[in-house]
Amino acid sequence: MALINEQQIAHQSVESIVSGATDVGIALASVMASARSEGLGVVPIGGIRRSPLEMVALLQLPKHTFPLAGVAMGYVDVPAHQKPRLPFETFRHNETYQTAGLEENIAQYNQQIGEHWQTTGRTDGESWSESVAGYYRHIYFPDVLDGLLKQGFGIDK
Ligand SMILES: Cc1cc2nc3c(=O)[nH]c(=O)nc-3n(C[C@H](O)[C@H](O)[C@H](O)COP(=O)(O)O)c2cc1C
Repeated sequence: MALINEQQIAHQSVESIVSGATDVGIALASVMASARSEGLGVVPIGGIRRSPLEMVALLQLPKHTFPLAGVAMGYVDVPAHQKPRLPFETFRHNETYQTAGLEENIAQYNQQIGEHWQTTGRTDGESWSESVAGYYRHIYFPDVLDGLLKQGFGIDK
């Protein structure tokens, strides 16, 4: 039975942006895993949010859509070095949020990745935690909110 006079309102809430972004993350991870399993290399592209409205125009996106993530794909010319990964304990939380040992684990990781960077020729001397903290000292893509609003999304207000 067709619904008459029914209106979609979910896009007026930031809840649907969070929910949609979660789905995009799942899709992105699946695309990356599938591409790699076929022998391709991938780079996720958050930079697609740098000038959202330019991407909207370029991709001819309709209202209620938004460029959240891109992914570049191709055959790898020179394989990158595999970076040591953050210890699992730093981001695994059993039942409740865990902070025990965090600082020690991060200090150990700083050491480990510092050695890795030496082998790959990175010599700016900045530690991993200084480098990551730097990302959070500014808003990476400040035009996102404006882009979302122009695409018809709302933020509950
Ligand atoms: C969500 C996300 C967005 C990214 N956006 C970009 C991007 O816009 N441009 C870029 O050159 N690399 C981008 N990258 C790639 C990273 O800079 C990095 O090269 C990649 O994650 C490999 O590092 P890893 O060995 O720690 O996984 C992005 C990575 C992630 C996970």
